[in-house]
Amino acid sequence: MLMDIIKKRHSIRKYTDRQISLGDLETILEAGNYAPNAGGGQRSIIVAVHNAELTEKLGIMNMSAFDRSQLIGNYVSKEQPSVIDDPKIKNGFYGAPTVICIFGQNNFLFREADAFCIAENIVLQAAELDISSCIVSRGEETFASEAGKQLLKEWEIPENYGCVCFVALGYIDGEMPQTKPRRKDRIRIVEG
Ligand SMILES: Cc1cc2nc3c(=O)[nH]c(=O)nc-3n(C[C@H](O)[C@H](O)[C@H](O)COP(=O)(O)O)c2cc1C
Repeated sequence: MLMDIIKKRHSIRKYTDRQISLGDLETILEAGNYAPNAGGGQRSIIVAVHNAELTEKLGIMNMSAFDRSQLIGNYVSKEQPSVIDDPKIKNGFYGAPTVICIFGQNNFLFREADAFCIAENIVLQAAELDISSCIVSRGEETFASEAGKQLLKEWEIPENYGCVCFVALGYIDGEMPQTKPRRKDRIRIVEG
């Protein structure tokens, strides 16, 4: 059931070294490719880095411009601490061996919405395959350095595109976290 997959998915921030298979990655990318997209334009570009070493390098680049002074009080997760919760975490992809980078066209109003629709399809397909995931932001900052720009050239990302977000993928190290209780009064049904 789709609802079971939706509820079993959690953002995971502790990974083993085990790489995901190319076949599973292809299935996950296919799910991303079939996400809804504004105007049916299919503008986003999706680059999967199926290489633990390069994923780690990118994860460190992802954190290089992280500004802790802008953070506001709340914790993200006690069971799966995020970079906000734990200043010792230096890899924004948390040691996951694969990362999917989602790029959007710079002047397009719905670039972010399109990218996160893709990310959601990706995390749900991954969950069905028992692959753990975490959506990660700071796309632009990650590729702002000379090393980042070089990678964009290698990957043939057009000049007018920028990275919106990432999905880290791998196998959980440890136990699945509990689902946070849902906040009350978020949902209203109006019948007339
Ligand atoms: C737009 C967006 C950006 C996010 N960025 C990050 C991020 O940069 N780093 C991170 O660890 N988690 C990130 N997350 C994951 C959220 O922290 C996570 O979804 C939230 O804490 C709820 O937990 P759950 O996904 O396990 O239900 C992001 C999620 C969304 C939707």
